[in-house]
Amino acid sequence: MKDHKIKLGLMGMGTVGTGVIRLVGGHQEDLFKQTGVEVEIGRILVQDRNKERLISVASDLITDDPYRLLHDPDIDVIVEVMGGIEPAKSYILEALEQGKHVVTANKDLMALHGAELLKKAAEKNCDLFYEASVAGGIPILRALVEGFSSDRITKIMGIVNGTTNYILTKMSQEGASYEDVLKEAQSLGYAEADPTSDVEGLDAARKMAILSTLGFHVGMNLDEVSCKGISQVTQEDILYGQRLGYTLKLIGIAKRDDDLIEVSVQPTMLKNSHPLASVNGVFNAVYVYGEAVGETMFYGPGAGELPTATAVVSDLVTVVKNMKLGVNGRGMVAPYKEKKLKSDDEVWAKYFLRLIVEDKSGVLAQLTTKMAEEKVSLEQVIQHPTKDGKDKAELIMITHLSSKKSISHILNELEQLEFVSEIKSVYRVEGSE
Ligand code: NAP
Ligand code: HSE
Repeated sequence: MKDHKIKLGLMGMGTVGTGVIRLVGGHQEDLFKQTGVEVEIGRILVQDRNKERLISVASDLITDDPYRLLHDPDIDVIVEVMGGIEPAKSYILEALEQGKHVVTANKDLMALHGAELLKKAAEKNCDLFYEASVAGGIPILRALVEGFSSDRITKIMGIVNGTTNYILTKMSQEGASYEDVLKEAQSLGYAEADPTSDVEGLDAARKMAILSTLGFHVGMNLDEVSCKGISQVTQEDILYGQRLGYTLKLIGIAKRDDDLIEVSVQPTMLKNSHPLASVNGVFNAVYVYGEAVGETMFYGPGAGELPTATAVVSDLVTVVKNMKLGVNGRGMVAPYKEKKLKSDDEVWAKYFLRLIVEDKSGVLAQLTTKMAEEKVSLEQVIQHPTKDGKDKAELIMITHLSSKKSISHILNELEQLEFVSEIKSVYRVEGSE
């Protein structure tokens, strides 16, 4: 920092980078009042210097040479909003090596390599902040690390992928088909160009790995987050859920019982009275339960140019304040608890099952007997003739609390029964304990 000025090197001038340029330019006075420092963009790294930009900046600011940012001694902070693993990871490591602080919005990178990058930052007394990586404009990471520091968090549930929430909302409220709404979400720019990581739950799993690491003080690896997406969800599932008082949502769940932890992402039947059930469209929300505070919920835009940029620039403000106090590198608390993951017989939930069975006497009795052998009991059952009316019935059941292990045993057994024609769907149920 020279003469009450800090220079940032902006890596990426796409959606988020453009928002950062707009906010840093438009909020200069407020930023100065809060930090006592003028924030200036010193250089912008892009891939294609000839591309038409959404905002005009002096042409000499733009470069395709990363070392004009990384090795410029006047640049104090690198803002990485390029995305992807490489070269973003190498650039961040080099920035830290050079003693530069880093702000990133990169959830893919932080979920996979966050521990390594944060270790490097601490060794170099540098800040590495990543508020924008989860739920865009919602300041949830700082809330977990600072706001809940006096409490013990036992549950985090999140709608942390806007694309899938948009798709499920449209399917529920307008009866639209999965394929049609996915196309619409892509054309509106919500879904990634390749929407696989959105619809198969991986984007949400990355965010849940970050949230559970910070909320439970353990280093959660991405491959420890069990993950299922929404590509198999049907209109029938949604409608039967609605009849029973549930809304189908893609929910990330991180739960701690004593010191045992489970983290997962899956389409979930959420009781309509749960606060997350009314989070609709492209919005995100994170529900946090603390032993002392009880229920809380954080709601807002999970993506988009300016919402995401607010998180990036707020991180920047914290870096600058830390620089003035000389306390960089001490911001985020490293995981300090031993990680103990639940096994499948320790993960308990209610389940929604939809089966096609033969419509004859004794079938329900045999099913419930099989379930009782696995100690799974039923809370609700509805039966319907199938639409084609061929002596078949559709059975929709909600179980009482059961272990994940018992449910998978039951499903294996049901598949063997000759009067069970098809297991149509199985969803975890939340919010009705
Ligand atoms: P984007 O629109 O695709 O922009 C990426 C920018 O990075 C582009 O300017 C691109 O240059 C540049 N870039 C990419 N690879 C590069 C390379 N190898 N060398 C130099 N420049 C490179 O991406 P975005 O939507 O802004 O997302 C950026 C990051 O924020 C990602 O990590 C994303 O996950 C995260 N994020 C985004 C949102 C959102 O709402 N978009 C929300 C939360 C988090 P060119 O312009 O020359 O192609
Ligand atoms: N594709 C992501 C979403 C963008 O739909 O939420 C924000 O991470």
